[in-house]
Amino acid sequence: MSAQAPSTVVPTDAELLQAQADLWRHSLYYLTSMALRCAVQLGIPTAIYHNGGAATVPDLITALSLPATKLPFLRRLMRLLAASGVLTVDNSGEEAIYRISPTSYLLVDGVADDGHINHSSIVLSATSTHCVEAALGFADWFKKDVVTPPFKELHGATLFHDNMEDIDEEYHRLANEALASHDNFGIDMALRQFSDIFEGIQSLTDCGGGDGTTARAIVKAFPHIKCTVLDLPEVIEKIPADGVINYVGGDMFKFVPPAQVVILKVYFGNQISTFCHPSYVVVLCSLVFLIFSSSIQIKLGPNFFETIFPC
Ligand SMILES: C[S@@+](CC[C@H](N)C(=O)[O-])C[C@H]1O[C@@H](n2cnc3c(N)ncnc32)[C@H](O)[C@@H]1O
Repeated sequence: MSAQAPSTVVPTDAELLQAQADLWRHSLYYLTSMALRCAVQLGIPTAIYHNGGAATVPDLITALSLPATKLPFLRRLMRLLAASGVLTVDNSGEEAIYRISPTSYLLVDGVADDGHINHSSIVLSATSTHCVEAALGFADWFKKDVVTPPFKELHGATLFHDNMEDIDEEYHRLANEALASHDNFGIDMALRQFSDIFEGIQSLTDCGGGDGTTARAIVKAFPHIKCTVLDLPEVIEKIPADGVINYVGGDMFKFVPPAQVVILKVYFGNQISTFCHPSYVVVLCSLVFLIFSSSIQIKLGPNFFETIFPC
C-alpha cells in the first residue's frame, strides 16, 4: 500500500505569523484572569467607584497606598483590565482615565443599593490555587483511568462540599460565598421582568430554597404570597425564624410541602463535573426557574436532576 500524501494544508506565511501571535495569546490568557484577581485583591474597582467613578493611575497609587515605584506596572495592569472589559478607559487626555464597567460594578464594595451583590468571592475562588492546581493537572488526569472530576481527584473533595472545609477553611468560606452571590443574583431582576407569572398565586414552596433569599425577595415583591422554604434539615436549622417564611427541613425526594406553585431554582455547581464545557456551565449556572403550577403534591424521582440536565 502506497503511503498517503499528508492531507494537512501548509499554512501561508500570513497564517503562520497570525498563528504565532495566537499561540502567545492563548499561552498568556491566564494572566487576564490573574489581572482580574489582582484587581479584586487590590480593591481597584472599589477605589475607582469611591473616587467618583473615574480614576487615573496616579489617583489609584494614592487611593490604594501603593509604592510610587509601582506606577508603570500599575499602568500595564490597568491597560490589560481595560482591554479585557473589566474597566473602560478614556485615552483622549494626557493621563488615561479608567471607569467602572458593568463587569467591575459587580466587584465594588459598598454600593448604596440593596440589590447590589459583590461578586469578588467568585473571582477569588475561581482563580484560587486549588482551582488553578486542578487545571494544571489536566494532562495527568487524562492519562489516569478515572472519571472523578480533576478538582476532586486532586484535592479529595468537591468544590463546595463540607470536606473542603477541612482542607482549607478560607477557600471553603470563599467558595460558598461565591455560590451564594451567584445564586442570589438576579432574583430581583427576574421578579421585575417576569412579575406577571406570579399573578394569582397565593402559596408557594421554594424547594431546595437554601437560606430563603429567593423566598424573602418574592414575599417582599408580593407580600400576599404565603411562602414555604424546603431544604435539608441541617440547612434549615441554621436559619433564624423570621416570622415571614415558613422554613421546613426535609428531603425533597420524600416530601414537598404542598403549595399552589413549587419553585426549583437550581445552581448545578455541585451536580456537574467541575470542569465541563463552558457553554454548558453557563446554561446550568443561569437562573433556572422551573415552575410547576399545581395544587397537587409533587414527587421528584431520585434521578430528577440527571433527567433534566444529563451531564
Ligand atoms: C445549590 S443550592 C440552591 C439554593 C437556592 N435554590 C438558590 O438557587 O439559591 C441547592 C439547595 O438544595 C438543597 N438540597 C439538596 N438536596 C436536597 C434535598 N434532597 N431536599 C431538599 N433540599 C435539598 C441544598 O441544601 C441547597 O440548599
